[in-house]
Amino acid sequence: LEISPFIAGLPKVELHIHIEGTLQPALRWKLAQRNEVPLRFKDQEYNTYEALLESYRVTYNHRPELGGRKDVPTFLEAYFAGCEVLISEEDFYELAMDYLERCREMNVRYAEPFFDIQAHTRRGVPAEHVLNGYLRAQQDAAARYGVRSNWIFCFIRDEPVEDGEAAYETALPWARRPGGKGLFHAVGLASNAYERPPSLFADGFAKAKRDGLHVTTHCDFGQKDTHEHIRQAIFDVGVERIDHGLDVLDKEELMAGLVDKGIGLTLCPHAYHRRTATEVLFPKLRQLLDRGVKFCINSDDPVYMHDVWIDGNMEKAYHLAGLSKTEMLQLARNSVDMCWADEDVKKDIY
Ligand code: HPA
Ligand code: ZN
Repeated sequence: LEISPFIAGLPKVELHIHIEGTLQPALRWKLAQRNEVPLRFKDQEYNTYEALLESYRVTYNHRPELGGRKDVPTFLEAYFAGCEVLISEEDFYELAMDYLERCREMNVRYAEPFFDIQAHTRRGVPAEHVLNGYLRAQQDAAARYGVRSNWIFCFIRDEPVEDGEAAYETALPWARRPGGKGLFHAVGLASNAYERPPSLFADGFAKAKRDGLHVTTHCDFGQKDTHEHIRQAIFDVGVERIDHGLDVLDKEELMAGLVDKGIGLTLCPHAYHRRTATEVLFPKLRQLLDRGVKFCINSDDPVYMHDVWIDGNMEKAYHLAGLSKTEMLQLARNSVDMCWADEDVKKDIY
């Protein structure tokens, strides 16, 4: 996937990326050696770097009709298996610095990365290692690369609600609020959405709002109950953005809700393109534009999605949805509009 000078040069803001989904195989290999963690997945062990690389051919799920095979990790399994090498504060720092340095190379001026603290604390990693590592990277990347970031705490939705709420309270001193350390300014909802609707987390979201934080939730494209999840997000939880949410096009009342409330979608075209035909997927972007739904282009989990980053996702939108340069510029501006940075930071981007 070649990146054109036009896309490479666009000033970018990334609003939908999971930091743990940017852990590159080379760093994963290095950390596995440093921490003496075996690189294992189910009954397989990756004893060589080549074997590890092979494991990145993940499937979307195990359904054979979609090309899934039982012995190949699904996307989320691979993502959480990758997390196992992250243990010390320095590990989390290096992971985040790798991504933020890459931001500078891709002309991403500002980012709001998601982090899954429960993916680490449930393995026995102290919360401070995660939070202090990311905090130090946030500060160093702003100073060193000029890449600023405000992060998003995610509840892991297939874990018990109380566990997410407890993790949030642990992390709260690191929030960006009076007296806080300034790492994260919002709360999101990620991981496996199967029978885990946003409303289950209504109390957690309400608490985050009372704490002065922004709220967003994943409503995964093409998943079971997706329309109900979008409805809850808009009308019950009262989110400010929706991550994915592309199924909104099927229901007029949901479209109206988004437009009325000015809720934008953080879309990740390549993630959907892995399992959706070009001629089905890309006209949807054109439809959203024509209907006045605000959205921006992002990458989700680039390392587990064929190494397609925000610039590659923009390239796909540009060519496969047949967008003009003016429309691409509009999408880039949407991301500035949809972000929750301070006004002076926004003015610096466009
Ligand atoms: N979808 C849902 N949850 C996630 C993802 C994703 O792509 N990546 C990390 N958590
Ligand atoms: Zn995501």
